[in-house]
Amino acid sequence: MLKSIRTKLTVTYIILIVTVMVSSSFLLLNILKQYYFDYQYTEMTRSAALISSFVAPKLVDKPDVVDISNVAFDFARQFNARVIVTDHKQRVVGDSQRIEGLVGTTLERKEIAAALEQKEKWTVQYSDLSKTWVLQVAVPVLQEDKVVGAVFLASSLSQIHGIQRDIRNYLIIATVLAVIVAGLLGRFLARKMTDPLQALTVAAEKMARGDLSQQVKVSTNDEIGRLTIKFNEMARQLQQSTKQLKEFVANASHEMRTPLTSLNILVKSIRDYPLSKEEQQEFLEDIDEELERLIRLVDDLLDLTRLDSVASDDTMVLLDIVPAVQSTLEMLRKRAEEKGLIFSYSLPERAAPVLVVLHQIKQIVFNLVDNAIKYTPAGGQIKVTLKEEGDVLKFCVSDTGVGIPEDQREKIFERFYRVDKARSREQGGTGLGLSIVREIVKRHGGKVWVEDGEQGHGSTFIVTLPVPELPAEEN
Ligand SMILES: Nc1ncnc2c1ncn2[C@@H]1O[C@H](COP(=O)(O)OP(=O)(O)OP(=O)(O)O)[C@@H](O)[C@H]1O
Ligand SMILES: [Mg+2]
Repeated sequence: MLKSIRTKLTVTYIILIVTVMVSSSFLLLNILKQYYFDYQYTEMTRSAALISSFVAPKLVDKPDVVDISNVAFDFARQFNARVIVTDHKQRVVGDSQRIEGLVGTTLERKEIAAALEQKEKWTVQYSDLSKTWVLQVAVPVLQEDKVVGAVFLASSLSQIHGIQRDIRNYLIIATVLAVIVAGLLGRFLARKMTDPLQALTVAAEKMARGDLSQQVKVSTNDEIGRLTIKFNEMARQLQQSTKQLKEFVANASHEMRTPLTSLNILVKSIRDYPLSKEEQQEFLEDIDEELERLIRLVDDLLDLTRLDSVASDDTMVLLDIVPAVQSTLEMLRKRAEEKGLIFSYSLPERAAPVLVVLHQIKQIVFNLVDNAIKYTPAGGQIKVTLKEEGDVLKFCVSDTGVGIPEDQREKIFERFYRVDKARSREQGGTGLGLSIVREIVKRHGGKVWVEDGEQGHGSTFIVTLPVPELPAEEN
């Protein structure tokens, strides 16, 4: 039944209001009733005492009942009560009620009996005659400390009940009004709360159906507002990642298509045309080259995918990277010299240990030097340095090659981006090398950028890796 927050809140408000109103009304009414009762009781005993002192001299052997009844009548009018005076044998000697009065009868009442014994007693009784509840008290009449009679007073409690009834009615109206206000307020507040939730639900449903361009209006700055901001952020991020992923897949497929098409033609040629042994050999070498390119591309793609995934299996270790850098450079030296390049490097004996995944560091060195070899024509120079500078290790690869135009020095780090597509393809490049470098450097908390070459032409790639601060003994 209580399926929506709106109904839950409204019902809770109403229950709360009704509970508070009913319990406080009950308490208030009881206190008031007690207060009025005490007040009336005190007033009546005081009046009875006054009457008693007035009639005391009149209670002689043969009392004048008419005279005493007149006195009773006067007081009764004044106090709005019935006044009865008895002698010490409970015989009525005066009654404020003249018609059908009780004069001459014996009035057997507990209050009077008690008063004759000088005790206090009161009773409340329902009067069929006046159709109201009546409070009755009696006090003794004393002559020189001797009880000679009693004064009995009966007064209606209708005033108390009237006030009580008025207040009760008032409280009922107030409760009904409070319930209406609480209901409306509850609905209003709940709506304020649930409307943004509703909007979020609709947006999430649309996203689940594939429409990622969702942004929900932020209308409050409470928890729900913050949730909406985060939701929008998430939607933007998701949209962007999806776009990037689509681009990546499109680019990757495109890159694969070229070698696959070449392979297709080469294989069909061998199958369909009569070729000499030399021609066949040449075609097979071409096939081998295209396959190499495909394998390299797939390897690079795998590397990037692995770098993209948040939980990587590669554990970082703290070590001196000089030996690893040197062995990678030595491996590349042969290729550089075969191409007719002057290749040199300067490495320190030892370097401060850094937190690294070793094979990834080798990959940085390889990709950067590989580029330098590829994009530097024969006769050019390649210089590699590694040194400590402040709190970083600085690795530089400088060449005297074709260089990179100023406006493309950011873009070359993007996936598949190449300055000169034709030339890069000729060199067997796919445009992933530098994006892999950037990804690895980012993982290591370092920076990578490109500057002009040392002699004003060519280019210098710079990678910095942070050197962690270690306790003195480990250093
Ligand atoms: N040392 C360099 N000198 C001149 N241009 C460079 C140099 N290094 C990179 N570039 C340019 O940046 C582009 C991107 O380099 P990246 O290493 O990402 O791709 P690639 O070398 O073309 O292919 P891959 O490295 O995937 O085999 C290159 O295509 C090239 O145009
Ligand atoms: Mg490259």
